[in-house]
Amino acid sequence: MVKILAIIGSPRRNGNTHILIDKLLEGAKSEGADTDSIFLNDFKITECDGCHVCWKDMECPKRDDMNGFYEKIIDSDVLIFGTPVYWYGPTALMKGFIDRLVYFNCPENREKIKGKAVAVVIPFEEEDERASLATVEIFEKSLGYLEMNLTDVLLAPGVGEKGAILEKKIILERAFNIGRMLTR
Ligand SMILES: Cc1cc2nc3c(=O)[nH]c(=O)nc-3n(C[C@H](O)[C@H](O)[C@H](O)COP(=O)(O)O)c2cc1C
Repeated sequence: MVKILAIIGSPRRNGNTHILIDKLLEGAKSEGADTDSIFLNDFKITECDGCHVCWKDMECPKRDDMNGFYEKIIDSDVLIFGTPVYWYGPTALMKGFIDRLVYFNCPENREKIKGKAVAVVIPFEEEDERASLATVEIFEKSLGYLEMNLTDVLLAPGVGEKGAILEKKIILERAFNIGRMLTR
């Protein structure tokens, strides 16, 4: 059974990111996947200090919730990242999480995530997709650097209000189908 872990980087519960992620997970579950999600705002994940203690097979001295997530990430076959665009980048919650993936940036730990499939979903208010360019690039470059396999980037432009994504039936359908395909 394929194990899928979703990381939700919007602070808004039941907001557009959350709804989109749930749609992907619904699609994945319809194909028998085992799914789990992390709502980052529920946890304490402090900033990376760049001390690289985690590269020496030692626990991060921050001793916050991130330490519990490394095993969860390693244990998953597929990851889904979701963040709205905040000032043309990901939310601070999501950026903080990405920074802490530095744990995987040493040869020994890199092997634990190398080749894992990743999908990214990004809702934002502006209609012009160029508003998401920097956010997409952060994921492309960072996940590429970690030798992960970015399979899908789902953009959802034109959604500002909480729940506005519910009016975008085509995008929701796309999310469901990406979720299904992630199980293969
Ligand atoms: C602090 C902040 C900054 C934002 N910056 C942008 C932006 O640069 N471009 C844009 O299109 N939307 C921007 N938005 C709008 C959100 O991307 C949009 O409302 C999104 O649907 C929120 O997703 P959520 O419901 O999952 O939180 C911003 C919203 C906030 C609160």
